[in-house]
Amino acid sequence: MKHQTSSTRFLSLGGLIVQLAITSRLLWPIQSPAADNPTTFPAVNDLPIQTNMPNPLLTADGKTITTPAEWQQHRVAVKQIIEHYALGHMPPPPGNVKGHEVVSRMLADGKTSYRLVHLTFGPEEKLSLDISIFLPAETNGIKAPFPVIVQPSFSAISVNPPLPLTNAAPAKQSASANTPEVAARQYTQALERGYAVVTFYYQDCGRDGGDYRTTGFFPAYPDYDWADLAVWAWGMSRCVDYLETQSFADKSKFIALGHSRLGKATLVAGAFDERFALVAPAGSGCAGTGAYRFNGKARNGREGLNEIVKNFPQWTIPSLVEFSNRVERLPFDQHWLIDLVAPRSFIAADGLDDTAASVNALVQSYLAAKPVYALLGVPDHLGIHFRPGRHTLAPEDWAAILDFADQQLRGLDVKGRFDQLPPQELWH
Ligand code: GCU
Repeated sequence: MKHQTSSTRFLSLGGLIVQLAITSRLLWPIQSPAADNPTTFPAVNDLPIQTNMPNPLLTADGKTITTPAEWQQHRVAVKQIIEHYALGHMPPPPGNVKGHEVVSRMLADGKTSYRLVHLTFGPEEKLSLDISIFLPAETNGIKAPFPVIVQPSFSAISVNPPLPLTNAAPAKQSASANTPEVAARQYTQALERGYAVVTFYYQDCGRDGGDYRTTGFFPAYPDYDWADLAVWAWGMSRCVDYLETQSFADKSKFIALGHSRLGKATLVAGAFDERFALVAPAGSGCAGTGAYRFNGKARNGREGLNEIVKNFPQWTIPSLVEFSNRVERLPFDQHWLIDLVAPRSFIAADGLDDTAASVNALVQSYLAAKPVYALLGVPDHLGIHFRPGRHTLAPEDWAAILDFADQQLRGLDVKGRFDQLPPQELWH
């Protein structure tokens, strides 16, 4: 099972899929006249067992999606299912994001310009997020507007004097805070290639711990059942709200990029916010690009659903806990999130020896995501890149993502290929 491709399984198990479709038809009430939007959702025990990757092109009433227009409509139901069982519901865009520049200086001997901008938004403008903006000043002839990478960060950026925290309840302070100078070094490759980078400390949106609902943006939206992956993704979208007002930003080239748990959030941001033209989760593993069905110790994968909901209950909503030891009842898998990005561009960048992310689980998501990109006529908008090495956002990951962005967003000829799978003996 481990080395079988998803497409093979779709073919060989066509009969079973039809069977499941018939079963789902009985179990999945369709009430919306406009689309196949489930307005009620079966309890976990009433969901059909699907050992194979659930077909994203099959509606709840057993119809196969065959046109881009049908897929566009079906996306609504796909999102609703993922929200209901895993991520919860994000508040709508607040519509009132404003930015106030707090610090502005040149870095890297004048090669980079830096701005710290204090965003305010939300009910009564009470929420805030401090974002750091790094702009290329010397770009080998590339001029603004620049493609902009939005990357949530594990570290805060500290300036002097320190900024006061303004969210209703402060999120946890970063264990490590970098100066703008140190932070800029991580972005040298992107900046030299003419990409701007915007970053923020992820826990300013919501604490990465059990009491998350009392922190960050959560208290301002008590009626929403979202959790951390969604709140971090929502923070990325608020950056885009602000960037849309800035002349340095190319509004057709916003890129979502994040590593590890922030790769998981990046996948969510890209799936739910169509303003991201390119989505690049790296090392995101389980609850990221790795298929739940091919993760978990019992499945030869790495960390799986059982471990995620037990060790990090703040990332997803309690409904997902009910799928512990019953992952085959999940009505979706993570390739559905990758498919929500289509027809926009997507690339997953992972290390072959990443102990936090199974190669096979990502390969299976990638293979199972393909039919939607094919249906939309953009098979080359779906990319994957593996490098030797461990759980880190490596320079080689950056290089692959930037090459892919050059190809997809700038129309440049690049040398690399983005459809290369490692030899099967490495699909561990
Ligand atoms: C842990 C966790 C992973 C996560 C990673 C990270 O290893 O198990 O799911 O991706 O932390 O965010 O660094």
